[in-house]
Amino acid sequence: MQIQENVSLRPYNTFGFDVKARYFVSITSTSELQQLLLDPTWATTPKWILGGGSNVLLTRPVDALVIQIGIKGIELVRQDDHHLWLRAGAGENWHQFVLYCVENGYAGVENLSLIPGTVGAAPMQNIGAYGVEIKDVFEELEAVHVATAELRTFDAPACAFGYRESVFKRGLKDKYIITSVTFRLSKQPTYHLSYGDIQKTLEELHGGVPSLRAVSEAVIHIRQSKLPDPAEIGNAGSFFKNPEIPKAQYDALKVQHSTLPGYPLGEDVVKVPAGWLIEQAGWKGHRAGAVGVHARQALVLVHYGGGSGEQIKELAQQVQASVEEKFGIRLTPEVNFM
Ligand code: EPU
Repeated sequence: MQIQENVSLRPYNTFGFDVKARYFVSITSTSELQQLLLDPTWATTPKWILGGGSNVLLTRPVDALVIQIGIKGIELVRQDDHHLWLRAGAGENWHQFVLYCVENGYAGVENLSLIPGTVGAAPMQNIGAYGVEIKDVFEELEAVHVATAELRTFDAPACAFGYRESVFKRGLKDKYIITSVTFRLSKQPTYHLSYGDIQKTLEELHGGVPSLRAVSEAVIHIRQSKLPDPAEIGNAGSFFKNPEIPKAQYDALKVQHSTLPGYPLGEDVVKVPAGWLIEQAGWKGHRAGAVGVHARQALVLVHYGGGSGEQIKELAQQVQASVEEKFGIRLTPEVNFM
């Protein structure tokens, strides 16, 4: 375990901001992490955990010990006739884990193909796409308590999953470090093809015949056509959450904006796509120097290079103000600010 000083976090955040960490260490095992947390030398230094850096906006230097979780490994925990349980290290790349499942015929995560980030970061915000969320395949996770270095197991209720939410973003924010996640995958696939263009893309690419590989490829195809590749243009996926508004407010808006899409959540609440609101407010493709609003998906803020997190923050505030003025809806960021 080697602790470095003044390390650029540029390779460690998908926005690609060149922000320095006062101290930086990469951890490859749970015991190494526990050892570090119990080390009196670092007891009073603030600590900051970095997963895949795909959902974070760095706005200033990080005056802390940045701990990058590089715990690897995928193991079969148990299986029965219908399911198998896989435990993956928090530092495994999420998409590589999905491909591993797809290639081995383990069903449940194929719709979550190509989401940037790590296995450990996935439950933090209950990642989701194309009708599936990680909570649907989640069994349990292990996490180390920062204050005591004790290892604790969290089952799904203890994680309090919500839409892009979990207890690790709320009540237990910064209190635990996720070290592994166990998933319950199926031996017989149940395909989720009803969201958006999946069925259509499947037909174009594979004549409509679903298989784990075909669904994964369809999702990859759709994502690549809309979402910028962080290796080419800095971004953190959807910058805002899709707002959930009272049905009465939705109905009133629909009178003025007849094309407003909406997905009912129960009887009284409607989820509306933030990307639509931002596009209608005139921001799609807008560029402000080094930052901008993506031209093919208005929910994604992008960094073209040489800019700062402050610039993204400023742009985000302008977008929020303008959407609020036009629609009376306040957008909430999905990305964590640092
Ligand atoms: N839309 C527009 N203009 C835009 C973008 C979207 O009008 O610029 C409209 C679309 O036409 C569609 C609706 O908004 O009617 C929804 O668009 P899309 O299917 O692209 O999904 P989204 O709601 O914008 C969410 C997730 C994504 C996830 C996709 C697919 C959130 C905040 N985002 O986006 O997740 O990949 O659905 O399931 O829930 C992420 O969280 O980082 C992320 C990329």
